[in-house]
Amino acid sequence: MASMWNQLSLMFSRGSDMILTVILALTVLWLLWSTVSRHFRNRSARGLPLPSGHFGLPFIGGTVEFLSALHTADGIRQWTQKQIKKHGPLFKWRCMGYSVVTMVQPEGNKFILQNESRLNHLNEMFHVPTLLGPESLLVQSGEQHKLSRRHLNRFFDHTAIGRYLDAMNRIAVRHFTNHWQGKERVVALDIINLYTFSAICSLMTLEEGPLMNEFMVKCCILEEGMTCLPINLPGFQYYQSLKARKWILGMLDRLMEQRRREIAEDRLSEAAKLDALTNLLTATHENGNALSDPYIKDNLLLLSIAGSGSTSSALALTLYYVAKNPHVYDEIIKEHKSILEGKRRSEKDDSTLTMEDISAMKYTWNVLKETLRLQPASPGTFRKTVADLEYKGYYIPKGWLLMWSNQDTHYNPEYFKDPLKFDPSRWEEPPSPFTYLPFGGGSHICLGNEYAKMEMLVFFHHLIRRYSWSLVDSNDDELIIRDPFPRTPNKTLIVMKQIIDF
Ligand code: HEM
Repeated sequence: MASMWNQLSLMFSRGSDMILTVILALTVLWLLWSTVSRHFRNRSARGLPLPSGHFGLPFIGGTVEFLSALHTADGIRQWTQKQIKKHGPLFKWRCMGYSVVTMVQPEGNKFILQNESRLNHLNEMFHVPTLLGPESLLVQSGEQHKLSRRHLNRFFDHTAIGRYLDAMNRIAVRHFTNHWQGKERVVALDIINLYTFSAICSLMTLEEGPLMNEFMVKCCILEEGMTCLPINLPGFQYYQSLKARKWILGMLDRLMEQRRREIAEDRLSEAAKLDALTNLLTATHENGNALSDPYIKDNLLLLSIAGSGSTSSALALTLYYVAKNPHVYDEIIKEHKSILEGKRRSEKDDSTLTMEDISAMKYTWNVLKETLRLQPASPGTFRKTVADLEYKGYYIPKGWLLMWSNQDTHYNPEYFKDPLKFDPSRWEEPPSPFTYLPFGGGSHICLGNEYAKMEMLVFFHHLIRRYSWSLVDSNDDELIIRDPFPRTPNKTLIVMKQIIDF
């Protein structure tokens, strides 16, 4: 028995010697191959180097670090700063299998945002084609995107915003009556979500009620799928998100069917005559063909997702910053009192707002802009190169992603003095180009940015006429997390004090 063990152990030790030799030989070969291939991979045919940076493990690379930075307090700013410190303001890394070059300086942002002919909009990484749909504006590039955007632009240009103002005013008054009146404590973000979602639903004349609430819940579930692994199996988030998409498409189908009947029978309400749904159902392409149902549904879904969480986050965080800066509250009050006094002097109705009133809310807009500087809803987005590119002496191969980012410029003292301070007065001067990018830029610049501005100013006007507020827990700004949009840990929990409506 013992000799058998001896023989076996001898065999094993001979075997393990052989295995070790093979492993050693393979390692040397791999090292040689990777050094030589890195040398060639890191240089283009013209000898330009790739940007510096670190790819890390195949496929995964920096994905886990990046995704967890997105979800932790102040994480994405710190992640960006760490990469800049290690590799400079232009660095390569790997995310979900893609080779990415992130650019954080104004010139880099300009290069990406104004180079659309050589870059495709890319959102595959966040499963946008499957979750938001292949016809969604976010998935399209080039001519196709230009055409699609032309149809949707009509609902978000200056004239259209003017048309929505009365409806927004009504939504805000109803919102404060139904959800704020008589409350002492409010989780601002949760309640504001009802306002911003009602505003989006008004584009389809869908009133607040059980159907709207269910729609809102399904949109949240769908959105959560965008930053998780695409595992389509029961029990996984992605599976739930795809189910939510199915529910939403069914609901939109029924809404469209009902609206088509109302159009055919000429019994549209005044609101429905003006809304985006009727317009999309009656619009045609240049060749006279109607817009397809998948196009209408994917883009109504996109508006519902893109237009609600970002705006709620900005509003709830503005309440947070204003509560921490009482002089800002006083300035806002002063501005709105002056607007109302002006209206009363010229005997105008002071319960509604006009576009002139919105333009007069300059200070309030600067306050909102300051929130969006410190806490932009999106830290940046990606584009995919459709050809080899050269930038600042570096080579960027075809198929790589470029990521523009506001995570350096927004906090850089070179562009914003004392950058971590909440200071709306800084907006008396315009920012340098491509340093302030809360709404992105280029051809994919946020479609709803003017709409969001009007929506947020109307909200503030009605809030400031009714309430003052203080924070239950005045957390530090460093605790603000992304979920996926920035919020304080307690979603801006505030104590309300009713003031006499002025
Ligand atoms: C404070 C509020 C908002 C912020 C901070 C915000 C921010 C952004 C950003 C950063 C982008 C990506 C731009 C890019 O990739 O270059 C974007 C795209 C978009 N946003 Fe907004 N957004 C807001 C509100 C809204 C609203 C209210 C709507 C609709 C009613 C909307 C609709 C869209 C659409 C449709 C796109 C895609 C545009 C395209 O790909 O052509 N957003 N937004």
